Amino acid sequence: MTDFKDLLSYVERETEFATSYYDDSYLDRRVSARMRRCGADSYAEYLDVLREDDEERVALLDTLSVNVTEFFRDGKVWSALEDVFTDHADSSGISIWSAACADGREPYSLAMLALDAGLSPWQVDVLATDIDQDALARARAGRYQSTRTADIREQLDFLEDPLEYVERDGDHGFVVADHVKDVVTFERHDLITDEPKSGFDLVCCRNVCIYIDKQYKRPILDTVSASIRTDGHLVLGQTETLPNGVKERFEAADPRIRIYRRLPGDD
Ligand SMILES: C[S@@+](CC[C@H](N)C(=O)[O-])C[C@H]1O[C@@H](n2cnc3c(N)ncnc32)[C@H](O)[C@@H]1O
Repeated sequence: MTDFKDLLSYVERETEFATSYYDDSYLDRRVSARMRRCGADSYAEYLDVLREDDEERVALLDTLSVNVTEFFRDGKVWSALEDVFTDHADSSGISIWSAACADGREPYSLAMLALDAGLSPWQVDVLATDIDQDALARARAGRYQSTRTADIREQLDFLEDPLEYVERDGDHGFVVADHVKDVVTFERHDLITDEPKSGFDLVCCRNVCIYIDKQYKRPILDTVSASIRTDGHLVLGQTETLPNGVKERFEAADPRIRIYRRLPGDD
């Protein structure tokens, strides 16, 4: 295992990817997949490849950074969020944090759905953060092309009329319309080491903790829960749960789809 640790230290040192945050078995699966592609038989051999081959370093980083996301990922969650947005239609507005937003499809889905539920642009404020600067650059651009495995048009079908919120971009792509982009702000934020935020009505922190080493889940969920106002909502990914010590701060608004409501009181 020394060779595997050496390899991880090399990646941590020479790239922007913080291997120490991630679960070892997750990292091992990803590294092993790259090793097979390169025909490297051992971690030591693969480390030599990495040292010499810039393109392989980029390919490994691509494989390690799990930016997998979709517009309106897990439809049932979005149907429930529609009700949350409708409740805010007569209010001074809703402030939303998409924490670990990847390439922006989650925060744009939030913005589109809030506008679709009848909120005016001035009532919708979405902060979208991620640790990965490349993902944030793609998110700001807001251009999405369908691929063999991801049909963007189909992902947007959750909306009755997606073309109110996106414009066509070539034969297989869409670009997010300016009036949607205008309500979303992107910023780099590390959920493990950066400060919590405050006062959000709704925070989505979905599908990040599943990849992260166990010891960091609590700090991430502490950061997230400190950022939500009393009665505000938290949405987790469909396979994620709140650890002891954090779950006491919430009641389940809809436990089947991992939506929680923040209870009064300090952390
Ligand atoms: C699988 S994506 C989830 C995207 C979206 N939330 C969703 O559910 O579709 C996980 C994202 O977490 C980000 N991430 C990983 N560690 C992070 C950290 N410590 N702080 C903030 N974001 C992090 C990754 O860069 C990646 O974009």
